[in-house]
Amino acid sequence: MSKKKTSYPKHDIRILLLEGLSQTAIDTFKAAGYSQIEVHAKSLPEDELKARIAEAHIIGIRSRTQLTPEILAHGRRLMAIGCFCIGTNQVDVDAAELAGIPVFNAPYSNTRSVAELVIAEAIMLMRGIPQKSAECHRGGWSKSAAGSHEVRGKTLGIVGYGHIGTQVGVLAEAIGMNVVFHDIETKLSLGNARPALSLDELLERSDVVTLHVPETAATRDMFGAAQIARMKRGAHLINASRGTVVDIEALSAALESGQVGGAAVDVFPIEPKGNGDAFVSALAGKDNVILTPHVGGSTLEAQDNIGIEVAAKLVRYSDNGSTLSAVNFPEVTLPEHAASHRLLHIHRNVPGVLSQVNEIFGKHGINIDGQFLRTDAKVGYVVIDVSATDLQAVDLKEALMAIPGTLRTRVLY
Ligand code: NAI
Repeated sequence: MSKKKTSYPKHDIRILLLEGLSQTAIDTFKAAGYSQIEVHAKSLPEDELKARIAEAHIIGIRSRTQLTPEILAHGRRLMAIGCFCIGTNQVDVDAAELAGIPVFNAPYSNTRSVAELVIAEAIMLMRGIPQKSAECHRGGWSKSAAGSHEVRGKTLGIVGYGHIGTQVGVLAEAIGMNVVFHDIETKLSLGNARPALSLDELLERSDVVTLHVPETAATRDMFGAAQIARMKRGAHLINASRGTVVDIEALSAALESGQVGGAAVDVFPIEPKGNGDAFVSALAGKDNVILTPHVGGSTLEAQDNIGIEVAAKLVRYSDNGSTLSAVNFPEVTLPEHAASHRLLHIHRNVPGVLSQVNEIFGKHGINIDGQFLRTDAKVGYVVIDVSATDLQAVDLKEALMAIPGTLRTRVLY
């Protein structure tokens, strides 16, 4: 019977961080006891990426590094991917899953940043500041209170009362606004916010409407001429959600007719691919519109939070096996395993694997302290805790690796 250790000591786990991630990511790994951290300020050329990923157990990237099936095939030791950003399109998450590699991201680290911008824009729009600023820039001067309002006592209508919508509601109430919201799910109201009876009722009541829905088939063009017509005449619209949610032509017409008093738009149906590319929109050139280049969530604080959030998820997976909030993987939340060894077995979701796993333990007379299984359409993830002494007795890892359909196994001592 083999007594060789099969789990990696932390100081041998190699972490490759690309694209100038926040120092908070590095600090989080170090605080968790990881020391082999290779940091690059930029993304790597393809050949170098292949060479570096071949050595890495964990890789952290932002949106520039493309992790294609070809690149992933070089990640022979790779056990987890962290996207230190919101989106994960740059990773072939299906190929990663079939290689037994969970992918983590940070969908909510910039919630506060978006919420602050929305509140600032609500105040600016209610005061008519965009028009006044534009006029001053042109050398004009019209000092007048006409059309300028405080937000105190006005009604903010929040469409999509999720992470951002609720934060916006809390901040809006703190400055004295009344908050109504509309969501397709039943949501617990925070503060004095009240659910509207319907989207139409929200539109009829609100002085400022702000959109915080995800991009889905149902939200595509959900805000068009009909919804705009339901708004109070002269009310304001804010969209920092997704560009496909608002019919820009309809909004443009309503801004010209005065049906919408002003708008703040951060996201567009078509956005320039990179900095320096031309931005074209029917809203450009309108004094009563605040245009921003999809920066709702872009603050240095959000970057710091992203560093902590994603690094913490990677540490948790490496230390404990938890895959909670992985974007491509069966999600398992695991208790600590101080008194036991933990085996992680990732396999193709084909019939019979679990019984073969259990057979191995039965054959060796090993008592299982705890077992956790989650599957999705492609992959099964089973975590088995056994008493520490049991695991020294046999080389279970090798036996588990031999089960047909196995993608990866790990042992956590
Ligand atoms: P979330 O998932 O926490 O909340 C979305 C809410 O919208 C949920 O409560 C959901 O039930 C609701 N919803 C879904 N479909 C709906 C419908 N048809 N009608 C009404 N409600 C509906 O998402 P989170 O984090 O609050 O993000 C909201 C939006 O903001 C997303 O589209 C996200 O992509 C975008 N976002 C934009 C950023 C920017 O830089 N401008 C930064 C971060 C997020």
